[in-house]
Amino acid sequence: MDEVKIYAPGTVANVGCGFDIMGFALENPGDILVIRKKEETGITIINSTPDCPKLPLDPEKNVSGRAVRFMLEHLHSTQGFEIEFKQKVMPGSGIGSSAASSAGAVYGANLLLGEPLTRKELVQFAMEGERLASGSAHADNVAPALMGGFVLIRSYQPLDIIELSYPEELYYAVIHPQIEVRTEDARKICPTAIPLRDAITQWANTAGLVAGLAAKDYELIGRSLQDVVIEPVRSILIPAFAEVKAAALAAGCLGCSISGSGPSIFTLNKDIETAKRVAEAMKEEFAKLGIDSHTHVGKINKEGVRVLK
Ligand code: HSE
Repeated sequence: MDEVKIYAPGTVANVGCGFDIMGFALENPGDILVIRKKEETGITIINSTPDCPKLPLDPEKNVSGRAVRFMLEHLHSTQGFEIEFKQKVMPGSGIGSSAASSAGAVYGANLLLGEPLTRKELVQFAMEGERLASGSAHADNVAPALMGGFVLIRSYQPLDIIELSYPEELYYAVIHPQIEVRTEDARKICPTAIPLRDAITQWANTAGLVAGLAAKDYELIGRSLQDVVIEPVRSILIPAFAEVKAAALAAGCLGCSISGSGPSIFTLNKDIETAKRVAEAMKEEFAKLGIDSHTHVGKINKEGVRVLK
């Protein structure tokens, strides 16, 4: 096999209380990439996306090129690759745009090399794409993009990724207002120290969310989707965040918070009808301010990155 076409999903990172340690995979949107073996060594990036003209073509400045380069060095491989982007999650959206590219590229290159590495082993290389994109090698987008489902990064050193159980019937509604927030900027405003009482609330909610997901206890999931550390600071970057969140809760979602570093906002919902209603309610709030938005509704993506036939 010399060529493979890959779908790499967008992701919701943090999931409210789990800053840098939790994330889940979306059905849509996602990146579509074609990875090809090259005769000569080195990585070439080709941008064939209609909507994302600014994608860096220098492989050291492109998250996918950087991630694959780290993987090849680890494998002591001199194989060259061409990475062609056919579809791209919008950068700066808060739904794991850079993670989808890094995850898709390392997954495809690994397949063409005969699968020397598992999906979980690929996470550390995709994280190098995140380091390039945001200055921080976090895994809460790349791990769910590669592994699918709902994941917990229990530890970064050493990397310890846990696949969480969650209810079969769990639907997201994500809204992406058409403004850009750079993760690097959103990370700079995060607190470097937090009061003990906030830490207690935050780790109680994190544990509550994991317990609620495992027990399929929707009320507990909803009560635990509270972020007292990051959301109060970052929400100032999102116009009408409080109004959009209030509208989502009034429309019946279990809970609502910022998706990754924003500006997208996510909700979790018990059924698809509620998720659709919530997406509409959020869209109306942004429309009141004249802000255009895209909504995405679906079931948590179990599979993660996959080959497209
Ligand atoms: N955990 C990361 C953050 C996800 O919130 O900065 C965004 O890439």
